[in-house]
Amino acid sequence: TPWAAETIRKAKDADAVLLGAVGGPKFDNLSRDMRPEAGLLNLRKELDLFANLRPATTFDSLLEASSLKAEVIKGLDILIVRELTSGIYFGQPRGINNEENERVAVDTQKYKEHEISRVAEIAFELAQKRGGVLHSVDKENVMATGILWRDVLTKLHRDKYKHIQLHHMYVDNCAMQLVREPKQFDVIVTDNMFGDILSDCASMVTGSLGMLPSASLGAPDQNGRRFAVYEPVHGSAPDIAGMNVANPLAAILSFALMLEHSLDMADDGSLIRRAVRAVLDNGLRTADINELGKEPLSTSAMGDALLEKLKRMDEE
Ligand code: IPM
Ligand code: MG
Repeated sequence: TPWAAETIRKAKDADAVLLGAVGGPKFDNLSRDMRPEAGLLNLRKELDLFANLRPATTFDSLLEASSLKAEVIKGLDILIVRELTSGIYFGQPRGINNEENERVAVDTQKYKEHEISRVAEIAFELAQKRGGVLHSVDKENVMATGILWRDVLTKLHRDKYKHIQLHHMYVDNCAMQLVREPKQFDVIVTDNMFGDILSDCASMVTGSLGMLPSASLGAPDQNGRRFAVYEPVHGSAPDIAGMNVANPLAAILSFALMLEHSLDMADDGSLIRRAVRAVLDNGLRTADINELGKEPLSTSAMGDALLEKLKRMDEE
């Protein structure tokens, strides 16, 4: 089973979880409920991690790694807030059945009002701490869930967050705007499926998918603490598994997010982020961000270089 009882218990006992990417062709012959992705979706659902934060930021020394022009992405700092435990990923009914002698597939996109408002609330709060601009992304011109989504956002804005600039945007337009003029965005909030797609797009705009961390937050407990899972945005990259060439920085930056959001160690989190910046400024690169064309560092060599840097920063 990709989601053992023992794992659930351990995860629930922990203050936070740091997750490695899962999936790969060696599981292709298993039924879907036995594949690693099923474990991931169960983890999200059972721990009620409904708000997925996916930042897309650029590093000055990596601007050339993007397929977009440097001036379009310099200083980019977007935060995508993706609803993670509902929508078409979990809606019922779903499946493939036989109807009138052919196969018919069904997926269901379904949202309850509170599922929209609780993730919207988090997005408004984050926009408040950041640039004060929120783009809510939906497909209101076609989908019933889009109509409800827009209505809930509009009311929440009117009742509680008037001081935030709220823009509604159709998802197709948003995909286009992300590559046309990404710096117009501060915080984006959207549903599970649209967030999956737009976050891949936004991450590649930065040129360094291998650099991006993410956090998935649950509801606060009696003490106001949210259970959270941290993981890199990138996938498991089975083609390079075990070769010691992957970029470890997204996982390390995910750990930095954990220090800040779950463990009350914001200073240490920002120390790690500065060390990552410094290592990049020194021209150190793994193969995925090797726009300088030098001999790339291995995964472990990058890890060692970062530790070395941290040690020196700590002494300073
Ligand atoms: C992601 C991934 C997952 C998703 C897959 C692996 C199930 O693409 O976290 O973005 O679709 O949510
Ligand atoms: Mg995805």
